[in-house]
Amino acid sequence: MREHKIVVLKGDGIGPEIVDEALKVLDAAGEKFGFKMVCDERLMGGAAIDATGVPLPQETVDACKAADCVFLGAVGGPKWDSQPGSNRPEAGLLGIRSALGLYANLRPATIFKPLKSASPIKDEIIGDSMDILIVRELTGGIYFGKRGTGEENGVAFAYDTEQYSVPEIRRIAKTAFEMAMKRNKKLTSVDKANVLDSSRLWRKTVIEMSADYPEVELNHMYVDNCAMQLVRNPKQFDVIVTSNMFGDILSDEASMISGSIGMLASASLAEGKFGLYEPIHGSAPDIAGQGIANPLATILSAAMMLRYSLDEPQAASAIESAVNAALETVRTPDIYEEGFRKVSTSEMGDAVASLL
Ligand code: IPM
Ligand code: MG
Repeated sequence: MREHKIVVLKGDGIGPEIVDEALKVLDAAGEKFGFKMVCDERLMGGAAIDATGVPLPQETVDACKAADCVFLGAVGGPKWDSQPGSNRPEAGLLGIRSALGLYANLRPATIFKPLKSASPIKDEIIGDSMDILIVRELTGGIYFGKRGTGEENGVAFAYDTEQYSVPEIRRIAKTAFEMAMKRNKKLTSVDKANVLDSSRLWRKTVIEMSADYPEVELNHMYVDNCAMQLVRNPKQFDVIVTSNMFGDILSDEASMISGSIGMLASASLAEGKFGLYEPIHGSAPDIAGQGIANPLATILSAAMMLRYSLDEPQAASAIESAVNAALETVRTPDIYEEGFRKVSTSEMGDAVASLL
């Protein structure tokens, strides 16, 4: 029997309850498709601060490096708001991205047919479907650039810097071109090249690389225009590639087009097959422990993990189909509509598992 060794980081807030549902679905998929998940549970984020004083213990990093890939719930919460920036739960997340070299963040924004009416965008704009893949650079740019605070003539200041090197741009552009080749062969590179030097280098490098992908139709868009186009005509996009900061913002915007942030999965990939998988939503501390959180984004992240890191594409597709099928009858409160059965977090997990 194939064995997949993963590190599980349940995290904070609703993290543990949604991860449990995804593990339930993974076990059911394993039974059906002939593999076994071997899970090594470790600490990250607020839970790690409480237990060890730091958001990312070295042993968590070491365990992740020894595993096939990493599965994460969500981190953070008001309990840790008073921590200094470098010791917040979010610092654990940024630290693990960097320590594991997870430079390519894939954030699909799709509309699930049964949930179409949840989208705030008009029907005539959405049509029957929307399927955008945002490829966000994840270990560079302003998140990791030179930063500091100081004081000059009694006036306090702070700065963060955006810096990208050609190799950093090339490797994320390569991921994006390759994703476009597997999809509708359309790539939009998003930058602010009318203002920023780092964006001009970004654009020049992406253009140079396009020679290797003659089948991919490449266009460029300024980030402000892209923010507007995403709601004006989202169907024009197939794959979007952009920097860490712009990708953070645009992926939240794109997720809302699909109606519920509780539905969207993500993968953060390193060189090769290694990756970290997590829902794009946060830890929602306000609803933690009530059994009302939507576990579907996490379950769909498990499907991405099976596809990109664990070579189980059939099981991945089966989970995605089961999620769509479950949405025809059962709904967690965030996506509830009249005519459906309102279910808890674990009942939703049961529904997906039983539809596999
Ligand atoms: C995300 C989040 C993180 C980010 C935060 C929590 C550090 O917003 O994954 O999009 O900004 O990257
Ligand atoms: Mg974000």
